[in-house]
Amino acid sequence: MIWGKSFIFLFQICGTLEKHFQGQFPLTQNVTVVEGGTANLTCRVDQNDNTSLQWSNPAQQTLYFDDKKALRDNRIELVRASWHELSISVSDVSLSDEGQYTCSLFTMPVKTSKAFLTVLGVPEKPQISGFISPVIEGERMQLTCKTSGSKPAADIRWFKNDKEIKDVKYLKEEDANRRTFTVSSTLDFRVDRSDDGAVVSCRVDHESLNSTPQIAMQVLEIHYTPSVKIIPSSSWPEEGQLIVLTCESKGKPLPEPVLWTKDGGELPDPERMVVNGRDLTISFLNKTDNGTYRCEATNPIGQNSTEYVLIVHDVSNTLLPTTVIPSLTTATVTTTVALTTSTTTSATGISSTRDPNALLGQTGPDHAVIGGIVAVVVFVTLCSIILLGRYLARHKGTYLTNEAKGAEDAPDADTAIINAEGSQVNAEEKKEYFI
Ligand SMILES: *[C@@H]1O[C@H](CO)[C@@H](O)[C@H](O)[C@H]1NC(C)=O
Ligand SMILES: *[C@@H]1O[C@H](CO)[C@@H](O)[C@H](O)[C@H]1NC(C)=O
Ligand SMILES: *[C@@H]1O[C@H](CO)[C@@H](O)[C@H](O)[C@H]1NC(C)=O
Ligand SMILES: *[C@@H]1O[C@H](CO)[C@@H](O)[C@H](O)[C@H]1NC(C)=O
Ligand SMILES: *[C@@H]1O[C@H](CO)[C@@H](O)[C@H](O)[C@H]1NC(C)=O
Ligand SMILES: *[C@@H]1O[C@H](CO)[C@@H](O)[C@H](O)[C@H]1NC(C)=O
Repeated sequence: MIWGKSFIFLFQICGTLEKHFQGQFPLTQNVTVVEGGTANLTCRVDQNDNTSLQWSNPAQQTLYFDDKKALRDNRIELVRASWHELSISVSDVSLSDEGQYTCSLFTMPVKTSKAFLTVLGVPEKPQISGFISPVIEGERMQLTCKTSGSKPAADIRWFKNDKEIKDVKYLKEEDANRRTFTVSSTLDFRVDRSDDGAVVSCRVDHESLNSTPQIAMQVLEIHYTPSVKIIPSSSWPEEGQLIVLTCESKGKPLPEPVLWTKDGGELPDPERMVVNGRDLTISFLNKTDNGTYRCEATNPIGQNSTEYVLIVHDVSNTLLPTTVIPSLTTATVTTTVALTTSTTTSATGISSTRDPNALLGQTGPDHAVIGGIVAVVVFVTLCSIILLGRYLARHKGTYLTNEAKGAEDAPDADTAIINAEGSQVNAEEKKEYFI
């Protein structure tokens, strides 16, 4: 090979001088083709003095001698035949076509060049086995993905919702034809509720697939016990009001209906305590409604329940100071907003717990809000009083000054009195300001 290359190099330098000796050299290239495709075998001679060219197969059978077909195989056709080139094509290539093909130039002695034809085995569409549906949460699932016919052995990868699962066992076996491989991979995992609806896919990558992998998919269905949560419509239920307790239950299959009980027994007043789907509505709340309400959800996998402690409060008599002073409107609006926010926050807090203490604890923020309102009212009232006081003081001051002026200008006490009387007109004017 090295010598051959050197000769070509020499030839390129020396050109026509060497033409009849070193330039007569067949040149070929290795070819890779996908099973079923077409392979072109090309043999070139740069300088040829009309010497014949021939292609032969791995079994040393002649395929073409110049432009003359030698082997009866209609998959093999002539592409081009000249003194400089002999090209043939093999269509519908099978795995057994793989091997070393030889191009011979019939000089004395004969010169040859070998071309290796590689045939790629295309992996079959992968199959997933071991799939069971539905599976109960906590059980194991073993999924095996298998594909035959790949050459070289294909690569298998697993994905759950497009996220790759790494380090999965991989097995490679030779197929019966002893040329291709069957590869398989087994995914073994414990399922949980988050896997419900997940798409598990097995992806086969292979150089014969033109970067469009073969994919097999399975959608998992996992059954699991219910989970329950009670969400009250109000965090501060008062006598005479209405409360809706929503029993939010999840589970697969979906637990339906849910069962509502109070203090371990049936709901005592069906007139006022109405169950509609998941919701328990209690209208005209009464202190006798205090107690522990329980929501129970059952599905074929299991049962779960949660409790809510209802405490009916007295009707609150706290009046919002909206009418005290008109200039307070802004302050009132602000505090109302604060009240709403704190209610929402404590509502979520309650729903996630069964602890009655938490329910008592929530009176804290509400008292704080009321305290805040009172503080604002007191503050504004004080401000108003101060403003009013200052206003009065200023006008009174003017009046006194005028009176003093009249007295000062007078040469004696009588005149001072007269002057003061004269200035009474002014004083009357000032008085009118007060009326
Ligand atoms: C093989 O040669 C034929 C004829 O020249 C051409 O049409 C075809 O594209 C070639 N195939 C390959 C794989 O090179
Ligand atoms: C090759 O053959 C052609 C006719 O087929 C002829 O014209 C040509 O001179 C020949 N060349 C050589 C170098 O023998
Ligand atoms: C052609 O393929 C053969 C066998 O696979 C290999 O030994 C050789 O190095 C290859 N030649 C080239 C030029 O790639
Ligand atoms: C009941 O539900 C809660 C969550 O709401 C969950 O943590 C618990 O495991 C469930 N119990 C059973 C027996 O499934
Ligand atoms: C609460 O219930 C009691 C007994 O059923 C009844 O006497 C009382 O009037 C009720 N109070 C209200 C506010 O409805
Ligand atoms: C209901 O709970 C409230 C708040 O703790 C309490 O004031 C009231 O006495 C209770 N009523 C009954 C009938 O238990």
